[in-house]
Amino acid sequence: MNKREFLKNAVTLSSITLLPSAAMAFSTSKKKRLRTAHIGVGNMGGEDLSAISSHAMVDVVALCDVDANMLAAAKALHPDAKTYSDYRVMLQEMGKKIDAVVVSTPDHTHAPASMMAMEMDKPVYCQKPLTHHVTEARAMKKIAKEKNLVTQMGIQVHSFYDYKLATLMIQSGIIGKVHTVRAWSPKNWGYDGPLPEGQDPVPESLDWNLWLGTSSERPYKEGVYHPGQWRKLVDYGCGTLGDMGVHIFDTPYNALALDVPRTITTNCRKPNGFGYPEQNMVTYEFPGTEYTADTLKWVWYDGKDADKQREDLMLPGGEELHDQGAMFIGEKGRLYLPHFQMLPKVIVDGEYKEVDVEKFNLGEPVRDYDSEGKKHYHQFVDACLGTAETSAPFSYASRLTETILLGVIAGRFPNKTLHWNAESARFAEEEANQFLDAPYREF
Ligand SMILES: NC(=O)c1ccc[n+]([C@@H]2O[C@H](COP(=O)([O-])OP(=O)(O)OC[C@H]3O[C@@H](n4cnc5c(N)ncnc54)[C@H](O)[C@@H]3O)[C@@H](O)[C@H]2O)c1
Repeated sequence: MNKREFLKNAVTLSSITLLPSAAMAFSTSKKKRLRTAHIGVGNMGGEDLSAISSHAMVDVVALCDVDANMLAAAKALHPDAKTYSDYRVMLQEMGKKIDAVVVSTPDHTHAPASMMAMEMDKPVYCQKPLTHHVTEARAMKKIAKEKNLVTQMGIQVHSFYDYKLATLMIQSGIIGKVHTVRAWSPKNWGYDGPLPEGQDPVPESLDWNLWLGTSSERPYKEGVYHPGQWRKLVDYGCGTLGDMGVHIFDTPYNALALDVPRTITTNCRKPNGFGYPEQNMVTYEFPGTEYTADTLKWVWYDGKDADKQREDLMLPGGEELHDQGAMFIGEKGRLYLPHFQMLPKVIVDGEYKEVDVEKFNLGEPVRDYDSEGKKHYHQFVDACLGTAETSAPFSYASRLTETILLGVIAGRFPNKTLHWNAESARFAEEEANQFLDAPYREF
């Protein structure tokens, strides 16, 4: 089943009348409070629920989770909210009683759930990476634009002080035109082992069919998929690049005003069809922008031996490099941005350079994650209420996600350079195009 058929089935089952145009969408109305529905309320979904509901103008009206234990924990905090295990049923039944939807499920369910909500003219806050497939990212951007919906991807660090400062510093030309970015994380959201054999009984609290959603049927194995472990696996997550990479890429990507890359080369082990490689080096070449040299080279390292011994990663005084972060390398120096909640630092001729940050008018640095962490969510709520704009809407998030996913696909062709045509949304290497999309299962 393709995406259109999935949406048509899901939406025509509904007894509600879909609003025909963005002019009638909530985003443009002047309501006073926002009624939110949350899909996936365990772990990060719990954090999302807590941050969104901490806004004074939010009423949580519906909660959905395929795991009854996760659902019960969220319900205990929001006793007035209706509960569901199937987001399709929730959206159909609640319909006009919902003003905005938050999607915090594993990656393979981001697009099916978000697109159904957007087809119903609902603003959506969706966790990162925006989607599991490139075609889905483009489809999400298209629907959001056509319906003029408020959207935000869950890259909360995007709204943090340090990242805004780094963006302004780079765009002020402090290190000149940037020719290279290096970014790294030692996290390992890969799995080099074999496909697990046999199957385990599905826990009573879990609806495995709904967890699989639009992905293929597969027997349940304890500790392999739910919760959290799915990010290591090609059918559900996007490996370390799609997990930490999205956060760490975000600032350089935004600061340098990049579009999608022209070439991508991933150095890693051979694909095994089940888990992502446990170590990856991904090299992108981007077309130049006003903040870069004619082309920009970007190198990402992940896994326990992420290569940090490069000359252009050496810090003054032999200081140890932070375990995660990014280095911008320009014609006049380097800008070092550890991840996260640490100030960006400029390095010129091997020494840290004092920078007068007052001229960037950002106020005092914020170091309190609790207040800083809520900003991105509250911005979404305020945008839905018509008093703000989101800073990571799907128009931006889809580009960033596409870039990430192209690196993930290149991992299926280790050490081979893939050439991406942004206009046709196809690789020159025909064998890679099959990984841009996947059929949706009827469930
Ligand atoms: N922005 C961040 O800092 C950050 C941090 C962690 C995770 N994330 C993102 O949040 C998402 C969830 O990650 P996680 O670590 O919490 O995963 P998880 O597997 O631990 O939790 C997912 C939750 O969604 C529920 N769920 C699964 N399928 C569902 C469905 N079809 N309908 C309703 N509920 C469903 C699960 O039962 C569980 O409660 C991912 O997209 C991940 O990339 C973002």
